[in-house]
Amino acid sequence: MPRVNRTGVLTLLIISSCVFLLFQLYYYRKYVSKPGPHILSRTGHLTASDVQWQTLKKLLALAQRFRLPLFLVDTAALTLLSQDALQQRDRMVRQPPCSFLCTGRPVTSFALHVNSWKYDSAFLSAAEQKGFELLEMRGEDPRLASLDTLSGEEIPLRFLFRLHGYIIQVVFLYERSGNYLWHGALRLHANMDRSFAPFKLLDYGQHAGAYDRPELVLTVLDGLDIRIPRNISRFLSEQRNARFLECRYRDARNFLQLYPEDSSPEAVDFRRKVKTLLHLTARILAHLGIPFWLSSGTCLGWFRQCGIISYSHDVDIGIFIVDYRSDIITAFRDAGMSLKHKFGKVEDSLELSFLSDDVKLDIFFFYEDGDVMWNGGTQAKSGRKFKYIFPRFSLCWAELLELKVRVPCETPDYIRANYGNTWSIPVRNWDWKSSPSNVQENGVWPLSEWAELIQVY
Ligand SMILES: *[C@@H]1O[C@H](CO)[C@@H](O)[C@H](O)[C@H]1NC(C)=O
Repeated sequence: MPRVNRTGVLTLLIISSCVFLLFQLYYYRKYVSKPGPHILSRTGHLTASDVQWQTLKKLLALAQRFRLPLFLVDTAALTLLSQDALQQRDRMVRQPPCSFLCTGRPVTSFALHVNSWKYDSAFLSAAEQKGFELLEMRGEDPRLASLDTLSGEEIPLRFLFRLHGYIIQVVFLYERSGNYLWHGALRLHANMDRSFAPFKLLDYGQHAGAYDRPELVLTVLDGLDIRIPRNISRFLSEQRNARFLECRYRDARNFLQLYPEDSSPEAVDFRRKVKTLLHLTARILAHLGIPFWLSSGTCLGWFRQCGIISYSHDVDIGIFIVDYRSDIITAFRDAGMSLKHKFGKVEDSLELSFLSDDVKLDIFFFYEDGDVMWNGGTQAKSGRKFKYIFPRFSLCWAELLELKVRVPCETPDYIRANYGNTWSIPVRNWDWKSSPSNVQENGVWPLSEWAELIQVY
C-alpha cells in the first residue's frame, strides 16, 4: 500500500476523533452538567418549575444553615423517584432540569424529626428575611395526655412557608412512647388565614399518622442536596396506611370513674402479662409480614378504657385470611408459645389459640364477603359452627401498652357490631356463643372431618 494513503487514513481518523470529542464536550455542557433549571428560559421568562426550584433551593439552604434535619416526604416527588428507580434506563432520556421536585403541584412536603432539632426562632426570622411568609400550625400535645392528665399544652405540628405562590410544608414528627414517630392532623382554627395555602392538597393533613423511624440517605436531587427515605417504596406504602387514632382519654376517664380499674395483684399481674404477650405477638407477626389488629375484648379495652379489661383472661387479635401463612404456627411455637387449639381450615372459619405464661392468645381469621367481613367460631365438644359478622373496615394505627398496634379505623361500628349499643357497660359473664350481637349459627362440621378441623391440645 502506498505510504501517502496510510498517512491520509491516520489524519482522517485523528480529525474525526477530535470532532467526536468536541461534540461530546458540547453535549455534556449543554445537557448534563447543568444542575437545576436554567435561570431564564429561552423567552426570558421564569417558568413555574424555575420558581419552584429556586424557592426550594432557598429554603433548603436556610435549613442547612440552621441544621434542620429535614427529609423529603412529598408523596408526588417520592412516587416519581420510585418509578425512576424501576426505569433506570429512561433516566438519561427524560431529564428536564427539575424533574423530581417540580411535580406540578404547588406544594412540596418535608418532615422534621423534632427530637434532633431544638426549636430555633432565628431560623424563622431568617426565612422571613428571605421573603418567605410563614404559617405555624399548632395542636395539642398527645404525649402528655393520659388517663391521669389531660393535656392542654400546644406544640408546633407543621410550618408552611410561602413564596411566589409556592408552599413548602414541614411536618413535625414526634417520638411517642411506643417507639414510633407521630405527626398531628391539620386543623384550621377560626382566626387562621384560610387562603394561605391549598389546605386540601397538603399531604399529611387529613389525619394524624404513625411511622417507624425510616432509614435516610443523603442524595442529590435536581442539583439539590436532599435526604430521602432509603427504601422509598416501603415508605410510600407505610404512608398510605399511616392513619393514627388517639385513644379517647376523656371518655376513658369518665368510664373509669364509674367502673374503677381492678388494682388487685392478680389484675396487675394479668395486665403485665398481656403487655408482654402483645409485644411478642407484634414482633412475631411483623417478622412474618402479617398485619393484625386488636379484636373483640382487647379492642373494646383500648376503645373504652385505653387499657386492658382485666377480667377478660385472654388477648384477641384479627388477621385477614388473605395474609395467612403456613409457617405461622411454627413461628409462635419457636417464640415459646404453645398451640392450644386449631379450629376450622384456611377456606372456612380458621381460628388459632396459643398459650403464653397462662394467658391465651386468640387469633381470629377474617373473611371478606361482599360488604361484610366475618370470622368463625367452633364449639369443640359439639362441632357447632358460629359466624361473627362485621361491617367492612380498614385498619388504623393506635397505641396500647406502649405498643404501636392496629385497630379497625371504624372502631365504633366494629365495637357496636360485636357488643351492641350497650358496649360501655361492663359484662363479666360473657358467653362467646350467645352474648355477641353479631353471632349467627353456621351449621355443624361433618363428623368425618372433626379430627382435622377440631384440634385441641
Ligand atoms: C424495600 O421495602 C420493600 C417492602 O418492605 C421490600 O420488599 C424491599 O425488599 C425493600 N428494598 C430494599 C432494596 O431493601
